[in-house]
Amino acid sequence: MTVNSWQIATKLKIWIQAAGQHLRQHLYDDLQVATKSNRNDLVTNMDKATEKLLVQEIRQAFPEAKIIGEEGFGDKVADLSGLVFFVDPIDGTMNFVKEKENFAIMIGAYLDGKGIVGVILDVVRQKIFWGGPEFGVYCNDIQIKPPKNIDLAAGLLGVSGPLLRQNKYHVADFVAQSSGARIIGSAGVEFTKVIQGIENGYISHLMTWDFAAGKIMAETLGLKVTNIDGDPLNMLSSEIVLIATERTHQQIMTITREHS
Ligand code: IPD
Ligand code: CA
Ligand code: CA
Repeated sequence: MTVNSWQIATKLKIWIQAAGQHLRQHLYDDLQVATKSNRNDLVTNMDKATEKLLVQEIRQAFPEAKIIGEEGFGDKVADLSGLVFFVDPIDGTMNFVKEKENFAIMIGAYLDGKGIVGVILDVVRQKIFWGGPEFGVYCNDIQIKPPKNIDLAAGLLGVSGPLLRQNKYHVADFVAQSSGARIIGSAGVEFTKVIQGIENGYISHLMTWDFAAGKIMAETLGLKVTNIDGDPLNMLSSEIVLIATERTHQQIMTITREHS
């Protein structure tokens, strides 16, 4: 299958911007909020409506594509052959409900398992991060330069609250060697911080739709994206995801090995 990555990026940006505007217009509406796997894993009527809309657009434009969507409007996907879209309609639903900021809409497009286009919209800041290996990474219309390859000690680390609290995978140990931890509560927003060089790494337990878009942009910019063992991510299952500058990644791997 041949695809035009630029055309995919253009369409995804238009659809995601429209979905983002819709979310901003309804930000203070009464929400229907339900829980999923636990009391902090939320879904709202707006998550569902946004995914439905995005899936509809993708199906119309790319009828041959497979779609993996968090809220279940996509397909049951067993392999990554052909064109596959990963859709997270609201990443950081807890923030959407409570903070009214720090949430994102994300879509990652893969061809035969290789990332071709990633798009993350920081909905309230109205910043759209988009890119891929064929054309680089942008924030709105400005190209993002590869972040400096800084050491663990020289920067901030984005982390998930539960991993830090329980010192799972020695997260508290390597946070202790950094400039400090940041807990934003949206993988999408965290990815935007790391690709801009604001944080030099991020670690969390994530589903594929949480990391599909960010992984493409991060790798395009020369950042390392692996699981906690340093192995490539499995795009069909959840993972402990580590994204970092090469040096920080290496130092985290060393600490992890020393402690196990
Ligand atoms: C969640 C956020 C959060 C991460 C969770 C995700 P959701 O996404 O990205 O930062 O720690 O693992 O599930 O459920 O709000 O789309
Ligand atoms: Ca998510
Ligand atoms: Ca979500």
